[in-house]
Amino acid sequence: MCGIVGYTGPKEAYPIIIKGLKRLEYRGYDSTGVALLNHGLKVYKKKGRVADLEHEIMGKDLHANIGIGHTRWATHGEPSDKNAHPHTSASGKLAMIHNGIIENYALIKKDLVSKGYRFTSETDTEVLLNFIEDIRTKNKCDLEEATRIALKRITGAYCILLIDEDDPETIIAARKGSPLVIGVGKGEHFLGSDASPMLEYTKEVVYVNDYELAIVKPDQLILKNLGNEKITPYVTKLDMDLAAIEKGGYEHFMLKEIFEQPSTILDCLRGRLDAGKGTITMSGVDDNIQHFRDAQRIIMVACGTSWHAALLAEYLFEELCRIPVEVEYASEFRYRNPIINKGDIIIAISQSGETADTLVAIEKAKEQGAIIFGVVNVVGSSIARISDGGAYTHAGPEIGVASTKAFTGQLAVLMMMALKIGKEKGTLSEKRYTELILELDAIPEKVQALLKSAEKVKAIAEKYQHAGDALYLGRGFNFPIALEGALKLKEISYIHAEGYPAAEMKHGPIALVTEQLPVVFVATKDSYYEKIISNIQEIKARKGKVIAVITEGDEIIPTLADDVFYIPPADEVIAPMLSVIPMQLLSYYVGIAKGVDVDKPRNLAKSVTVE
Ligand code: AGP
Repeated sequence: MCGIVGYTGPKEAYPIIIKGLKRLEYRGYDSTGVALLNHGLKVYKKKGRVADLEHEIMGKDLHANIGIGHTRWATHGEPSDKNAHPHTSASGKLAMIHNGIIENYALIKKDLVSKGYRFTSETDTEVLLNFIEDIRTKNKCDLEEATRIALKRITGAYCILLIDEDDPETIIAARKGSPLVIGVGKGEHFLGSDASPMLEYTKEVVYVNDYELAIVKPDQLILKNLGNEKITPYVTKLDMDLAAIEKGGYEHFMLKEIFEQPSTILDCLRGRLDAGKGTITMSGVDDNIQHFRDAQRIIMVACGTSWHAALLAEYLFEELCRIPVEVEYASEFRYRNPIINKGDIIIAISQSGETADTLVAIEKAKEQGAIIFGVVNVVGSSIARISDGGAYTHAGPEIGVASTKAFTGQLAVLMMMALKIGKEKGTLSEKRYTELILELDAIPEKVQALLKSAEKVKAIAEKYQHAGDALYLGRGFNFPIALEGALKLKEISYIHAEGYPAAEMKHGPIALVTEQLPVVFVATKDSYYEKIISNIQEIKARKGKVIAVITEGDEIIPTLADDVFYIPPADEVIAPMLSVIPMQLLSYYVGIAKGVDVDKPRNLAKSVTVE
């Protein structure tokens, strides 16, 4: 995600833009920049936070009544001054900011380079901008029409703001898949990724829809579709306060990020999984496919929630690729004297890409000849940079300390990798491959449907908020989800919780079972179903309270469990992406019931960059 701000009107644009960017930094903070129009185009941009830019350009001529600003969450091209937005076109007359991913930018760039265009950044945004300029030149049309033509030829997601030195009062804006709000003032207009940059100036806003294009002047807002047909802007009145808006109307970032998962999983699959063609395109894997094909062993290295993703990846890779996998806690791996064989592949999984234990573990492994593959959320982070190859999870900034959307993004990447490598190695039949591709493609919609039952989870959470302890049990692909559920409850509600393989209970932990002990089973319909029913009966026989995550249509477990959460049917390999959602919601609502600051739980930090 990135933060986008624009202004055109009688006021000084710069103060409005820079303050608006600070309010949008929760959307991304890799780099930032502003473009102002006043007797020519002035662009100031740099890597780092908004305050860094503000400090650097203090004292410069920032007078202007029109401008655009951007705070970046890197997707293409690591955080740097040259990759910061706004970008300027080859002629130097156009400036543009963009939030989204242009999937077919490489092909467009190749064509522009063949026409003599040169690029100063690695971004897809600069390609789109020069594509628009090239169309305007070649077709001798105005900027609005050139933008419309270009947008009909790109695939992916975008919200763009575009200004032209030769038209110093107009901002052209368009969106598809990334949000855009236009604030309507008296003789002025404000633009933003959400309403936070404009809230203090106006509460009259227009939410621009996909495939719409806006021509915004101080006293005029024209809205059109890409067919050049005018649309009457629908003005609504905001009734939110600023803090609420930064959280998208949710009470906490954690809840917002749980509910973002249908779109963040889609962003992760976008440009990679093509269910129609049955293809998975992952350049990081393609570039290392020989290593994966020949690997005698894969070592997964991670911490915390990312370690749970690694554990699930062990089940996936061994099942689908028949490659032996070892899962290591990074903090243990780095201090042991591990045996690293040449050709071993280490998959490092990390949301932040800065976790010290994981970083040092892979630095040491790399010294011993291992190939490092990073599955990371923050583009250009240390782990991403040290890796020989990788795949980003594209979950956007995760602000809540508890990892939720980044975790399902990790699972999506790891599932695509296992499917791709399994197919490449021939260890996965065409039929099974196709089945699983379609299952994975259906996940965003199933998560969307599943989130509708959040209120039911809230009621159950309030019922168990006073528990002193809890057990989380699962088998097979659901065992890592049981561990993740236990971690979520611990870190968000401070209730002691432990995750176990369900069959492990009889080897000691079942001594813990009493009428006061809630036991959460991840018991979806899979190849372990009959066995986990026996495990549930073992708990019931000792009067334990049973909460079960089950598959819609299950008629057996509801007769045994005290409370159930339903998830849509899914193949056991893919179902963990669904069964984790009730776990996330359960921990959130128990934490809320207990009055915990769920976005900043005690003793925790978002990124553990110390040993
Ligand atoms: C997850 O909810 C925790 N906040 C924590 O365990 C986290 O997963 C762990 O610190 C690893 O962080 P990383 O993914 O950024 O490496």
